[in-house]
This record gives sequence, structure tokens and C-alpha cells, in this order.
Amino acid sequence: MSDTLTLRRPDDWHLHLRDGAMLRAVLPETARHFARAIVMPNLVPPVVTGAQAAAYRDRILAALPGDMSFEPLMTLYLTEDTDPDDVAAAHASGLVKAVKLYPAGATTNSASGVRDFDRVRGVLERMAEIGLPLCVHGEVTDSDIDIFDREAVFIDRVLDPIRRTTPGLRVVMEHITTRDGADYARAGGPDLGATITTHHLIINRNHILVGGIRPHYYCLPVAKREEHRLALRAAATGGEACFFLGTDSAPHVDHLKEHACGCAGCFTATNTMSILAEVFEQEGALDRLEGFTSLHGPAFYRLPPNEDRITLTRGAPVSYPAKIDSGDGTVTVFDPMMPLHWRVA
Ligand code: NCD
Ligand code: ZN
Repeated sequence: MSDTLTLRRPDDWHLHLRDGAMLRAVLPETARHFARAIVMPNLVPPVVTGAQAAAYRDRILAALPGDMSFEPLMTLYLTEDTDPDDVAAAHASGLVKAVKLYPAGATTNSASGVRDFDRVRGVLERMAEIGLPLCVHGEVTDSDIDIFDREAVFIDRVLDPIRRTTPGLRVVMEHITTRDGADYARAGGPDLGATITTHHLIINRNHILVGGIRPHYYCLPVAKREEHRLALRAAATGGEACFFLGTDSAPHVDHLKEHACGCAGCFTATNTMSILAEVFEQEGALDRLEGFTSLHGPAFYRLPPNEDRITLTRGAPVSYPAKIDSGDGTVTVFDPMMPLHWRVA
């Protein structure tokens, strides 16, 4: 086995950068390895309009250290009041690359999300016409649906009906966590893609709950049974074009993770590429890492792949900081519970 691996520079198709001091702390962690990222709009208040997305993009670029390059790919947060014309204009100007659907109450800062899907039909139809992808947080929020079943139920009750009634709508199933999600994405044809996070390739629900509650492994959608983790590993490493990396790296300060009502999110920006190389090596699929991190995503988003390359080298275990400072408290870096042998040169 070769000890060097050269890939087109990767992109992250689902990332939380936050704002202010946290943005300044976490942005270099991504920009060090990634050329571009689909930036999630779940700020407080959310990024709803084209003007808000333009202002957020400016804040991201202002926070970028002068010696780094990085292109934020902006998204709009879909609400029941979203104006189809504003969405179309933000897309036509090149600013916005996707619209994000959060079912109201599904996750961090999703209170302004969608309750009545009939009220966003006009926006979705316009998006289908102009080819603008919808990124979907695929979980129902009904209190009678068990949290471990919410993704599968969402596919049946919400996603499949939306896709049937909006032909041509291009959809990314964000951070899939189940075999059901992977199977649905596979069967969906060229207008359907799915992102897979780094951490869902590593943890199952036991890692969160056995031997004490481990808040740094709590994220949404929550990690499921081992059979689902294995299905995600097969999907990520299998070379199918519908699957691509979206880390969902989601920083929260430690005192809000280690809390009676701890926030959801795993922060993986710092060590994602090392973890993924280790996973793909374990699966005998190092030759497919570039497809997952650097080729399938641009193809889905109809953007050119990056021209420059990164090189990973295999050697003695690499160590990463356990925490980074956010200016407002520390953020714990995801612990993959295994030695990592691949470092980005
Ligand atoms: C995300 C966050 O913190 O913004 N949290 C998470 O657990 N993934 C929101 C999200 O993507 O669901
Ligand atoms: Zn997310």
C-alpha cells in the first residue's frame, strides 16, 4: 500500500460556521483543507433573504485569515414566508447555491422552519424550474414518533410526497443516518443526492449512551444502531455518485454541550480528512476517497471540481488538539476513538 495519497482539494457540502468570535475560531479549521463549503443558514436570526446571505458571506470572508483561500457557498433558510422572486434573484446572481429546509423544531435554531409544507409549494416549484437544490434536514418532529425513527418516517411522509408533487426538484438529503436514507437516495435518480457526515461513519448510539452520557457524541440526526452505521460506511466508500461528504461540523461551546439540556452537534472540521482516510483505508477503498470528498459533490451541484490538490501521507499517529478556543469558551474536537495515521501534508 502506498503511503501517499493525492486528491483534488475537498469541499464540505454541509457546514456550520456560526458568526462572530466562533466564526473566526472555526473557519480556519475548515479552510485549512477544504476549498468550498455549503454554509448552513441556521444563525439567530436565520439567513432568510438574499441580502442577509450576501451580508453573511461578507462576514465569512472578512473572518478568513489573509493567507487562506476559501469560497463560502451560501444557502437560504426556507420559511413559510420565503419569497420565490428573492430566491430566484439570489440564485441568478450566483450568490446562493441551495435552499435549506428545516422542519420547524427539528434541530438547533430551526424554530423559523416549515410547519405546513403546502405553504412553501410556490418556492419549491420555482426552485425546480431554475434547478436550485433543496437541502433537507430529513426528520419529522411529531412528538409521537420515536427519535430513532424520525428519518425513515420523514422519507415516507414528507420527502417522497414533496418529490412526487414537485417534479424536477433537485434535493440533497442532508446527513443521512440510516440504511433507509441510503437506500432511498440510491433509488432517487440524478436529481437526488445525500450527504454523509464524518462522525456518523464512526459512532452508533451506544457511543452516546453506554457507560455514561457522552454529550460530545450527541448530534442531530442522532446516531442510530450499528447496522445503520455499517450501511453508511458502505454508502460513503462504495463509489456511488449520489453520496458525498457533508461534515455537518457544528461547533458549540463545551459548557452548552456538557449541560442538563446539551446542544446537538459534533465538531469535526479539524480532523475530518484524517478520519475519513482512516475509514476508507479500513474499508479497502482509499481509491474512492477522492470521489466522496472532491468529485461527487461538485457534480451534483453542477460546479467544477477543484483544480488544486492536497496530499495525505501515512505514518505515525497524528495528534490533533482535543479542544479549540472559540473566544467564548472551548469547543471539543470530535474524538474518533482510534489512532489516525493519515495527515494532510
Ligand atoms: C446542527 C447545529 O448545531 O447547528 N446540529 C447538529 O447536531 N447537526 C444543526 C443540524 O444540522 O441539525
Ligand atoms: Zn447541520
